[in-house]
Amino acid sequence: MSGAGDVLEDLSSRDEDLTYFAFAKPVATHRDAMQVRPEPVPDVLAGRYRLERLLGAGGMGVVYRARDLLQEQFGDPEPYVALKMLCDEYADCVDASALLFSEFALTRRVQHPNVVRLYGFEADTRCNRAFITMELMRGLTLDKLLCERPLGLPWPELRDIALPLIDALAHVHSRGVLHGDIKPSNVMVGEEGLRLFDFGLGLAEEDALPGLPKLSRHGFHAWTFGYAAPELLDGSPLVASADVFSVACVIYELACGKHPLRRVPSNQARDVGMEVEPLTSSHLPKRCWTSLKTALSFDPSKRHITVAQLRQDFASASNFKLLQGWRRLFPNRFRQ
Ligand SMILES: Nc1ncnc2c1ncn2[C@@H]1O[C@H](COP(=O)(O)OP(=O)(O)OP(=O)(O)O)[C@@H](O)[C@H]1O
Ligand SMILES: [Mg+2]
Repeated sequence: MSGAGDVLEDLSSRDEDLTYFAFAKPVATHRDAMQVRPEPVPDVLAGRYRLERLLGAGGMGVVYRARDLLQEQFGDPEPYVALKMLCDEYADCVDASALLFSEFALTRRVQHPNVVRLYGFEADTRCNRAFITMELMRGLTLDKLLCERPLGLPWPELRDIALPLIDALAHVHSRGVLHGDIKPSNVMVGEEGLRLFDFGLGLAEEDALPGLPKLSRHGFHAWTFGYAAPELLDGSPLVASADVFSVACVIYELACGKHPLRRVPSNQARDVGMEVEPLTSSHLPKRCWTSLKTALSFDPSKRHITVAQLRQDFASASNFKLLQGWRRLFPNRFRQ
């Protein structure tokens, strides 16, 4: 991800693109606003959420485990939530709060069993910080899973991750939302199943969320090098096929433990003529590899597969394998 410097530079040079919130501090100039140090985060936010511990920190946000004191007061035995706010670097930058709201609005628009569930978008007026509350996921992110399984996952395990992940993304796209940052650390698997999260770089397709503030993203080159499609890294706008490329990178890596482009940014890999090493049927069914290969095309005009088609191919391959298993176990049942 790029640093805060890019956003700040952008804000100071493009005043007309700023979006303000009621709780933002009154400031003389935007440049002054950047220089105000954020207030320290209190132990209890908005008089309600007691921060218990840090769960993770990414390029822009910090995520805490928190206890909802209100729910606790009413006897909820599980009053725990995850609470995401911007890290200090961004906390006083009003446009960045709008980015956090955009993440909230996009995620809320997609309700799916494999997409993280959001509770609310709130602000603590004392420390002047906006935050999102959401379900507390318990499990492993796929990057941690890959550390534990460096050779990748056999097909039955891979299928149980790939199918819900593709399913979630197909639903996201069907709601007119683009994720923009599909990568192993933005997917968690646990006892409650798989969850896709972190829509911080997401966008709504035209007409999907017309009321959402228009944000300036000039100078905000935040794409993740290892998973972003080459055209995004070249500066093209985010479109659905870029998500298809990223999800294919993740599935490839889960299948064999190796990154398809050896971690070279995809536009550089394309420019030096690098080719993705084919996966064999010991990794995943042939028809899945055929569609994954198409999804990994450098040239977006040759990436003629949607996430819905990818989903269909993976689902039918898994049904086919299941059928083969049943045939072996009960051969008489399948006699013609
Ligand atoms: N709902 C949640 N429950 C439990 N842990 C979470 C939750 N949301 C996020 N995390 C943890 O916090 C980390 C950072 O979260 P997230 O990816 O949303 O932040 P980010 O700043 O947008 O990250 P980046 O931009 O680097 O992808 C995650 O990788 C995960 O470990
Ligand atoms: Mg993240």
